[in-house]
Amino acid sequence: MGAATAERPLLDLTEMLINRDFSKEMTIMKKIFLPMIVLGSLAATAGVQAADSKALIKHRQGVMNAISGHLTSIFSTLRGPESFAPNRQFHADSIAHLSKIAVHTFPEGTDSGKTSASSDIWSKPEAFKEAMDKFVNKADALAATAGNGDVKALASAAKALGGTCKGCHDDFKED
Ligand code: HEC
Repeated sequence: MGAATAERPLLDLTEMLINRDFSKEMTIMKKIFLPMIVLGSLAATAGVQAADSKALIKHRQGVMNAISGHLTSIFSTLRGPESFAPNRQFHADSIAHLSKIAVHTFPEGTDSGKTSASSDIWSKPEAFKEAMDKFVNKADALAATAGNGDVKALASAAKALGGTCKGCHDDFKED
């Protein structure tokens, strides 16, 4: 009996999610995207539904924070106890993997709301791609050196990677 009452809120929530009425989102989407489609704008095809943009921005920031956490972990093992040194490869591999996810976290339509992303990301796509490519390359380079025990090479690869973060943030992130 007690268990059944405790489960009730969870069931209600599940039902709510299953029966969710998406008509409001559809209306918003039509309002935003119909004029674009009429204009034949390319942005309409690459754009995202307004309701999704909040989640996409949250995800993007989560990916960035994860990258940052792994990079901090690597730098701190260079000064910290040797016992954490074996984790460097894991952290470097994680950054390399996350960098490939980061590439896809800037779809059109995610430039407003709680975001520090500059509108230049979408108005200067070539320059942004270049900054992103540099980052992915340096992340791969770090992953390639992380396990070979050469701490100097690791430190300089991590520093080079850090430079690509700063480079992109200077140009494409607002404070
Ligand atoms: C090609 C561009 C680019 C590169 C490279 C890049 N970032 Fe970012 N980063 C951004 C943008 C744009 C934002 C703002 C995202 C937003 O607010 O929607 C951001 C946000 C962040 C944030 C804040 C997340 C939050 O909670 O708001 C952190 C931390 C971060 N980046 C760390 C890093 C680190 C560390 C690296 C490198 C290892 C890196 N970034 C590389 C573009 C980049």
